[in-house]
Parts: sequence; C-alpha cells; structure tokens
Amino acid sequence: MREGDTPPADPSVLIVGLGMIGGSLAAALKSSGYGGRILACDPNQEEIAIGLEMGVIDDGGRDLAALVAQSGLVVVAVPVLAMRRVFEQLAPVLGERVLTDVGSTKRRVCEAAREAFGRLPANFVPGHPIAGSEKSGVAAANPALYRHHKVILTPEADTTPTAVAMVRGLWQRCGAEVLEMPVDRHDQVLARTSHLPHLLAFSLVDTLARQDERLEIFRYAAGGFRDFTRIAGSDPVMWRDIFTANRDALLDALDDFETGLGRLRAAVEQGDSDAMLGTFDRASHARHYFETLLNQTSYQTMEARQVQYRVSPGGSVNGRIRVPGDKSISHRSIMLGALANGVTEVKGFLEGEDSLATLQAFRDMGVAIEGPHQGRVTIHGVGLHGLKKPAGPIYVGNSGTAMRLFAGLLAGQAFDTELTGDASLTKRPMARVADPLRLMGARIDTAEGGRPPLGIHGGQPLKGIHYDMPMASAQVKSCLLLAGLYAEGETRVREPAPTRDHTERMLNGFGYKVDRDGDLATLQGGGELTSAPIDVPSDISSATFFLVAAAITPGSDLVLEHVGVNPTRIGVINILKAMGADLRLENPREVGGEPVADLHIRYAPLKGIDIPVDQVPLAIDEFPALFVAAANAEGTTRLRGAEELRVKESDRIQAMADGLDVLGVETTVYDDGIDVVGKVGDGPSYHGGQVDSLGDHRIAMAFTIAALRADGPIAIDDCANVATSFPGFVALANKVGLELTEISA
Ligand code: S3P
Repeated sequence: MREGDTPPADPSVLIVGLGMIGGSLAAALKSSGYGGRILACDPNQEEIAIGLEMGVIDDGGRDLAALVAQSGLVVVAVPVLAMRRVFEQLAPVLGERVLTDVGSTKRRVCEAAREAFGRLPANFVPGHPIAGSEKSGVAAANPALYRHHKVILTPEADTTPTAVAMVRGLWQRCGAEVLEMPVDRHDQVLARTSHLPHLLAFSLVDTLARQDERLEIFRYAAGGFRDFTRIAGSDPVMWRDIFTANRDALLDALDDFETGLGRLRAAVEQGDSDAMLGTFDRASHARHYFETLLNQTSYQTMEARQVQYRVSPGGSVNGRIRVPGDKSISHRSIMLGALANGVTEVKGFLEGEDSLATLQAFRDMGVAIEGPHQGRVTIHGVGLHGLKKPAGPIYVGNSGTAMRLFAGLLAGQAFDTELTGDASLTKRPMARVADPLRLMGARIDTAEGGRPPLGIHGGQPLKGIHYDMPMASAQVKSCLLLAGLYAEGETRVREPAPTRDHTERMLNGFGYKVDRDGDLATLQGGGELTSAPIDVPSDISSATFFLVAAAITPGSDLVLEHVGVNPTRIGVINILKAMGADLRLENPREVGGEPVADLHIRYAPLKGIDIPVDQVPLAIDEFPALFVAAANAEGTTRLRGAEELRVKESDRIQAMADGLDVLGVETTVYDDGIDVVGKVGDGPSYHGGQVDSLGDHRIAMAFTIAALRADGPIAIDDCANVATSFPGFVALANKVGLELTEISA
C-alpha cells in the first residue's frame, strides 16, 4: 500500500448456517471491532432472531441471493453433507466474491464445490477452524472460541492469493493461528486427531448405555469416564456427515487403532506386564508432551511465552551443587541408543527442551523409549535400519545440534522426512551440513539461503567422502559421521581445530570403530551399533555460569560436582585459569568413556587476557559468561577468531555487546570477536539495567550472574529458552546465593 492510500474496508461477511461455529465466528468478529457488516442466512428464523438479539449479527434471513448481493465474503458453516446444496444455490450469484467454508473434511467439500460450480472456483478458499464444542446453536456462540486455536486452509495452486489473504485475515481477526496444507493431508491428520476420538467416544457411551438401559451405571461414572466421553455429547448430524465424508481416512485410522487395541488386549489376556508397561509408558509420555503443547508451555510455543528474569544486585555464591546433564551427550545418547541393537540404559539425561525434542522425535519414528525419570532413560534400540517414517515433520525446537545431527542420520534412511524448528533455528545456517551431505549423494532441500526447514529425501545411496571442514564444528563433523554409518566406503572428516568428540567416543563405546589420526576422524559404513550403558556427566557449559559467578564475586566458594571435563570442552577452565581464577579439578575419574571431575572454585581477582585462538572451539558455548568474567577483570580481554558466535541461538557477539553497553561496560565489536574493558575494585563493576536476551538461553544466564557485581537490579527479557538447556536454573541460582525471580506473562 502506498502512503496516503486508505486501507481496504473490512468486507461485509455473510455466514451461511448460523449454528455454534458460524455464530462464534460472528461473535469473534464483532468483539474484534470488525468494521464490515455481519449477515447470516439460515432456514431457521429462530436462530437468526437469537443472533440479532445477542448482537452478533447485523442482519439476516432466508433469502440467500439477496444476502449474497450485500456481502464481499461468504462463509459456509453448514454440516459437511449440506454444503453441496448451498454451493448449488451460490453458484449463480457468487460472482467475484470470496467464498470459504468451515467443514471438518476437505476432500468432500472440494468435490461438492467442483460439482456445483463446474470447477473449483479460484475465489474459493477451503478452511477448517480446529475448535469446537459439544454444544450447538447460535445461543452457544463463544467469541473466544478461535483464540489461540489453529485454522487450516487448503487452497489449491490456482486459488487467488488475495482470496487466501482475505480469509487468513478474517481468522486472524478472531485470534486464530492460520496454517495451510494440502487437502488430503488435512483429511488424514483430522481423521486421527479428531474423527477417531469422536468415534470412540460415541461408541463407548453407546455400548455402555445399551448394556444398562436404565443408565444406572452412569451414576457411578467417575472423572475418567467424564474426560474420555465428553465429546460423545456432540451434534450427531454433524458427526454423521463427517464420518461419511471422510470415510476412507477414518477407516485407515481405525485399522491402526484396532491393531493397537488387539496388541493391548493380548497383553492384558496374557498378563504380559512388560508389554502393558511399554504401551502405557509410551502413551503417558506422548500425552504429557501433547499437554505441554496444548498448554503452550513447550518449546514449540515457548517463543510466545514471555519470561523475564529480575536479579537483585550483590551477594556471593557458596555451596555444593550438581548442574543438569550434558546437552551434547544427551542428544547423542538418544540417537545412538535408538540406532543400536539392544537396550541402552542412560543415566543423567538432560531433561531440557532440546534433548526432550530429540527423544520425542525417535518415539515418532517408532522407537520405544521409557522415561525420562529423574534422568534415567531406557531406549529399546531398533538397529541402524529399524526407524519408521514419522507421521509428520520432525520438530527440533531451538536446537541446531539436533537439526544438524538429524540431517546426517536421516539422509541415510529409506523414507522422506522434514526437519523444522523454532523461529531462532529457522534463521541458522544449514548449508554447512546440506552441502557435504549432497556430496555424499544425499538429496536435501533447504529454504532460501540454506536455512531450515530441511526436506530430506530417503532411499538415496550414500557414499563415503573425504571432507575438509571450512569451520571448526562438532555438529558438522557429527552429522557427516552419522551419515557415514549408512554410506558405502569410508567417510573422513578433517577439522581445522579440535572440536568436541562426543560422537566419536560414543560410537566407539557402542562398538563402532572411529579412527582418529591427528585432525582426521574416519569411519567405515555398513557396521552395527551395540547398546552400552551411558552415564551423562553434568554439562560444563551449564556449570560455566556458576564458575564465573564464583570467580567474580568476593566471598564465593563453590563446588560443582560430576562435571564433564572432556579435553575438547575445557576451554573455559583454561581461560578462567589464565585470567587468574582459583579453580581446581578434584576427584578426577572416568565414567562411560568421558572424563569427569568436581570443579572447586573460590573468588580471586581476575585480569584481562588475549584469549588464545586455539581455545575458541573448546569454549565456544561459554563466551557469553566469559564476557561477564571479562567485565570484572582488570584490563581488556580480547577475543578473535570467534565468528561462529554470530550464528548461534543469537548473534552472541552483538547480543552481549548490546547488553554490556546497557550496564555501562565498554566494548569494541569486531567481525570475529570483541574487546571487553573490565573494571575491578571492591564495589560494583557496572550498573544495573534492562537487557534483552533475544531468546538465547546463554545470554539470559550470563546477564543473570552479571548482577552479582552490578550496582542495581538487572532485568533480562525473553528468558523462556533457558529451559532448552538448563531446567531448574532459577532454583539452583537462588540456592547458591543469587536473588533471582522469574516473571511470566
Ligand atoms: C555442539 C557443538 C557446538 C556447540 C553446540 C553443541 C554439539 O556447535 O556450540 O552447542 O553438540 O555438537 P558447533 O560444533 O557448530 O560449533
């Protein structure tokens, strides 16, 4: 729109069929302040009268043609099988007006439109709001019915874009989230998630009612019965129509359900306790996962959840704590456990959003996984070729590691997959894995600029390659090694500097030989993985926030137990020691192929240093916290050779520089690094203030600990993603002596 143009007025909307669904649309539009008139057509004049009295429509009646003439957008909200007759009446009078519907099945509705109009009109945008109620009639209209609910549109390639935009805008006005998908996919998805549960509820209540004609037993029905059967009170005509219209997809879903029910019946009959537990455990976890999605508390919707941290200034940190399990090792434990032959028992698994997404992804690919229960997970491996095609895209949340490692292992599968993630991940570079995988023979689609989502075509024969990585990335290395398991011949990956080697260690632990020759990691395709127990150490990247907290705060004395000190991860220890930190490794030992120690740190004055370039990949995730250490060190700390920081969950160089600037810390930013000018003394090192974490967990935690040396409180915005790597951070921070509150909006 050019400046000076007036925005197009809201078109008058005609709702054909003023029931609960159509009435709720009218009510939602009214309460959104919609500018156009809202009209309704319904053979039942009583419904129109109620709609007028409720104030949800402006006018209405029975004369469809006359009402169409007054409208710019027609929404057909009658039961699916009644659509055809309405379309026939609309065909001669619709003209250029935009048409949409709210039917729960889309193939049948499109066929009806095709028959009535002679073709699918280009101004017809089939739609389906995924919201409802067991109540019917306009009297049950609810203006909030569509708020935070999904509406699926199924336009064809030749549907007019302005028509799609108009319908999309209409639903967004009602507070809905609008998605698009092909017609058949819509019908299959809905058959499983909506139609099948309705069918089961109807059937169960009817079966029980027949057995007890006086309906005596319903008196004794408890919450479980009520929860399971609420939807059996839904409109019978509407559901008869839906089951008729979506017959084939529903029968497919019912076949799968009957197979599952048969298995469970046999388990009950035979007293097969393992089989029962396996089913209940998988279902219970899947249900909890859905619950978090439905409650908008999962990583999937976390971007919308606003969490602010408020940290009081001052204090010191003391005590003995254990931070959660290592994120990198947790991801890999599930991946390799799933691909192994046999059962893998994992201890210390990180129950953070990122690694839980990986776990769920394997459940979606048919792997039975029990837990996590207090960090314990049991994975029933299916072997390298035992994964099944997931029903939908694999969602990996905020995790670059998951997306890149998955890209490698999925490139070797027989089936196609799609990998998606949250808004932050969608901006991150994936060509770094897609390009070398293509050299191996993989077929991978990316979005523009090599960004997610990734479409991975299965069934492609892979061959081993020699790859010199242009950047020091453990994720790229691991991706190629995982693809190499499926490749013919040898896969050789050379790294320009040492990066974390958890993949190589764990593969060796699972009996799959990875050779290491200097900077070159090599494996031969076509082998097998054998399950082995995994003890995940505490994550040194999470421990770092507390190491720095103690290092900068007089009076601090803290022990972090059981921290992973793999030589490819200890950059932070080397750097802090070089800055003068009083840091000792106590009780060193090895668990499950990974070195572990207790880290004992006491306050000692720090000095600024030039960070050795060879330490950069070894401390890559620790820099946000290390910049806070630098702000509390005497003199300037200089970092170079760290351009990778710009493509993490945020541009970590800029995000930290901006936040430090708010606190009054002097920094100079370079393409590949930063100078931080520190200040020391007995008093505070900088001011308080409000900083933005940009949704990056490590930026959020770095500024939390910065408050220990500020002269006023620090408020940090957008902290929900701390749960991706460090569940329980707030409680643990308070336990050791910080004063941190979490405010959720
Ligand atoms: C990781 C590797 C690192 C690191 C990330 C986890 C891994 O990324 O930043 O948090 O688990 O392999 P790059 O290897 O891409 O630098």
